Amino acid sequence: MLELVGVRTGYGRTEIIHGIDLEVPRDGVAAVVGHNGAGKTTLLRAAVGLLPVTSGRILFDGEDIGALRPSARVARGLAYVPQGQQSFGQLTCAENLQVVADGRRGGRKLIADMLDLFPALVPLLDRRAGLLSGGQRQQLAIARALITQPRMLILDEPTEGIQPSVVAEIENTILELTRGGNLGVLLVEQHIGFALDAAERYYVVESGRVTSTGVGGADSADTVRAAMAI
Ligand SMILES: Nc1ncnc2c1ncn2[C@@H]1O[C@H](COP(=O)(O)OP(=O)(O)O)[C@@H](O)[C@H]1O
Ligand SMILES: [Mg+2]
Repeated sequence: MLELVGVRTGYGRTEIIHGIDLEVPRDGVAAVVGHNGAGKTTLLRAAVGLLPVTSGRILFDGEDIGALRPSARVARGLAYVPQGQQSFGQLTCAENLQVVADGRRGGRKLIADMLDLFPALVPLLDRRAGLLSGGQRQQLAIARALITQPRMLILDEPTEGIQPSVVAEIENTILELTRGGNLGVLLVEQHIGFALDAAERYYVVESGRVTSTGVGGADSADTVRAAMAI
């Protein structure tokens, strides 16, 4: 389980996150929703170690990982897919998967597993990542993250700018993964329907604070929309 306790962080002297508490189950989804600029990405960057916390704790299976470097957090089992689906645009899909799998035991099998999970990538293996559609790039980015065999997957707006049919595909894949019982997901989303469908618990973030939290599920989408005044 990933647990943020009283986390404060920001850029330089500007505090953006003013003490956030949040829990992600070890085998389920916690969704963070909120308007643009609320601080969602900043919070994730602190969770993975790209920004230092100025106070508070980040616990992963009980261990305080708040002072560890990003690479050490990855080694503990955190994987992060940043907003904007970053892969190596000049490399092919296959090469993008290969660079993550290289040096890992069973690398070839890990790639094969990803192609089972994302069959849409199979016909694209020789295509440069920079030429993929948004949905395809997102699937590639998630596949790359999963090759590290994480226990906690952190996704920043995976459905941003992609078509509804692919949103449904990505949602199903995420749920399938968590059902296996070995993966927790911290999901930041603007797409409320998708986020709440998938989530066991939701957190509404506004101006760097959690202003509303509750049990997820499709029924809670309207409550969340009301809390966000949309
Ligand atoms: N690198 C940065 N330096 C300074 N301020 C930043 C930086 N990145 C984001 N911010 C500010 O932090 C606030 C929260 O941004 P962000 O975490 O990206 O929000 P969200 O992901 O919810 O849209 C915004 O006011 C934004 O302008
Ligand atoms: Mg963001």
